[in-house]
Amino acid sequence: EPRRATYLDHVPVDRWMELMITPVPVPTSFGGADKCMLMTFHDQTPLRRVEEMRADFVANASHELRTPLAALSGFIDTLQGQAKDDPKARERFLGIMHNQATRMARLIDDLLSLSRVELSAHVRPDTLVDLVPIIRQVADGLEPLARERQVEVEIHLPEPPVMIAGDREELLRLFENLIENALKYGASGGRVIVSLTSSAAPDGAQEIRVMVRDFGPGIAPEHLPRLTERFYRVDVGDSRSQGGTGLGL
Ligand SMILES: Nc1ncnc2c1ncn2[C@@H]1O[C@H](COP(=O)(O)OP(=O)(O)OP(=O)(O)O)[C@@H](O)[C@H]1O
Ligand SMILES: [Mg+2]
Repeated sequence: EPRRATYLDHVPVDRWMELMITPVPVPTSFGGADKCMLMTFHDQTPLRRVEEMRADFVANASHELRTPLAALSGFIDTLQGQAKDDPKARERFLGIMHNQATRMARLIDDLLSLSRVELSAHVRPDTLVDLVPIIRQVADGLEPLARERQVEVEIHLPEPPVMIAGDREELLRLFENLIENALKYGASGGRVIVSLTSSAAPDGAQEIRVMVRDFGPGIAPEHLPRLTERFYRVDVGDSRSQGGTGLGL
C-alpha cells in the first residue's frame, strides 16, 4: 500500500512511495546462502495525483453548477412569494435568472467539449489546415468584445497560407480562449497583439509561432504552473464576473 513518505528526510513530503521487500538468497563462497533483502521503491505520486485531480474535478464541477442553480431556485421562490405582484422586481429577477441559466449552459458546453478533446488527446490530427483564416476568424468574432473593452487589436498575419496538421474546431477554440483572455484580463493595457511567424527550429524543421500578447497586469509567476488545471483562476471573483469558468486553458 503506497504511503506518503513522511519518514524519509530527503524525500519531499508530498510523494507517495511504494516499498517492496523481497528476501533473496545470495550464495556465499563457503556454500549455502546469505539472506539478503531486495528493496524496491516505486514512486506512485503521478498515479495518486491523477486520482486526486479526478476527485477535485468532480467537486469543482458540482460546486460551479450548484452556485447558479441555488440562485435560480432562490429567485423562483421569491417570484412565487413576495415578488409575485411586483412587475418591476419580476423583470429584474428574470434577467438575473436568465444570466444564471446561460452560465450553467456554458459550463456544461465547456465540460462536454473538454471531454471530447480528451477523447482525442492522443490522436494525431491527419488533416492539414491553414492557420491564417482560423486566427482571422477568431479575431473577427471577438471584435465586439474588443470594442466593448476599448482594446485595440493588432493582427500580424502572413499573406500565404500556413499549413499545419490540426483540427480546425480545436484550433478555433484554442485561439479564441487565448485572445478572449487577453481582452478580458488584459483590457487595462488597451492593446492586444496577435502575430504568426514561421522560422526554422534548431533541428531544421519549420516552426510556427503564434503569439497573443496583452499589456494588462499579466499573471504572477506563482500561478503559471497551475493555470491549466481545470477551474483554476487567478482571481475567481474577477473571472466569474466576466462569465469565465477557468476551463479555457
Ligand atoms: N491574459 C491574461 N492576463 C491576466 N490573467 C489571465 C490572462 N489569461 C488568463 N488569465 C488568468 O488565468 C485564469 C485561467 O484562464 P482560463 O482561460 O482557463 O479561464 P477563464 O478565462 O477564467 O474562463 P473560461 O476560459 O472558461 O471562460 C483566468 O481566470 C485569469 O485569472
Ligand atoms: Mg478563458
